[in-house]
Amino acid sequence: MNPALTKIGAQMSNLTGVRAIMKDIIETLKAGAGRQFINLSAGNPLILPEVEQLWRDCTAELLASSEYGEVVCRYGSSQGYGPFIEAIANDYNRRYGLNLTERNILITPGSQTLYFYAANAFGGHTTSGELKQIVLPLSPDYTGYGGVSLVPEALVAYKPSLDIDAPAHRFKYRPDFSQVSITEQTGCVLFSRPCNPTGNVLTDEEVKKIADLAAVYNVPVLVDSAYAPPFPALNFTDMNLIFQENIIHCTSLSKAGLPGERIGIAIGDEKLVESLEFFQANASLHSSRYGQAIAARAINSGALTQISEQVIRPFYQNKFAVLENTLEAAMPKDLPWFLHRGEGAIFAWLWLQDLPTTDWEFYQELKQVGVIVVPGSTFFPGLEEEWSHKHQCLRISLTGSDEEIVTGMQRLAKVAEQVYQSSVVRA
Ligand SMILES: Cc1ncc(COP(=O)(O)O)c(C=O)c1O
Repeated sequence: MNPALTKIGAQMSNLTGVRAIMKDIIETLKAGAGRQFINLSAGNPLILPEVEQLWRDCTAELLASSEYGEVVCRYGSSQGYGPFIEAIANDYNRRYGLNLTERNILITPGSQTLYFYAANAFGGHTTSGELKQIVLPLSPDYTGYGGVSLVPEALVAYKPSLDIDAPAHRFKYRPDFSQVSITEQTGCVLFSRPCNPTGNVLTDEEVKKIADLAAVYNVPVLVDSAYAPPFPALNFTDMNLIFQENIIHCTSLSKAGLPGERIGIAIGDEKLVESLEFFQANASLHSSRYGQAIAARAINSGALTQISEQVIRPFYQNKFAVLENTLEAAMPKDLPWFLHRGEGAIFAWLWLQDLPTTDWEFYQELKQVGVIVVPGSTFFPGLEEEWSHKHQCLRISLTGSDEEIVTGMQRLAKVAEQVYQSSVVRA
């Protein structure tokens, strides 16, 4: 049966951004049955033995405790599971000198849901018909932002400026404050730090500047900290978390080993948190409590931060070093390739300047040599204007084995050489 979908129904039934590419990747893997692909496309974190053990131990403790029935056999508050909220408040207060109470914290079923609530609570049409924008101040950014607004035209992203170190073949995006517009038409601001897909970490000053621009208009700023300290601590460069009245600090336990449990955490001003809590009460009552109950244990004992800093961070930082060293050795020096500075997250972002084909065609060429990455053009949600750079980048996941990363990057270097050469021959 073909249901008659509403405008919103049709919109929400579309696969946006990287999910559309994932369909192509799954079909490629299925069609190439028996063929070995090096799949460097995944956003799914690897299962690290120490991390899995932590969650097993916490589960065993929960099962053995009298708390178990209360956790899984009963409904709870829309705000989240009390002992987990308390664990977060105590941990952040001690670590960052804050005065959080339980009223400053909301737990959602994954942080994606949190962005959906916020995008529609603060962005879209007001009761007087005015359109409030959801501003992404630095594009490219997380592809999942592409599907969060029920009013897609509300999403507006801004081109960054590029800090290029040509001799080193490195670059870094920075917000272009001469372009970014935050006004009374802005409903909220949203960015990831560390950033998926680029591994960029906005500096403390850049975050403060964005938040100050937004504060003038009472605009909430959601800082997506899915990769930030204290867990999963996937920052490879120093960064401070910034807390101020209009910042909603958003985090997630997905990259700390619990993506299946769907735990998103919003920390911020009581009134902001409350509006998201009511949205959640209407949409889903509350988030599942089992994951929260085991996470409370891992936070209270300090084990989660310790494993994040001592296992998760070095694991991915080392993967980035393997990728970086391989590209250094394999990429022809005279090609204009630029690797984004690896400041965090679980991805590398490669810019092939003046690429004679598109990122999509390059992705197809790479598939021919058994390597799968993600074409970069899917990571510019909200940036409507044409910009050749959008078609010159690739996201490479650090979730392969060292050998896969080395072989994958060597093959990528060969493909890049051929692609640039063929354009010279054609010219
Ligand atoms: C930057 C960023 N934000 C949010 C999410 C969504 O995470 P979750 O809904 O699992 O918390 C992801 C997932 O990959 C991400 O990379």
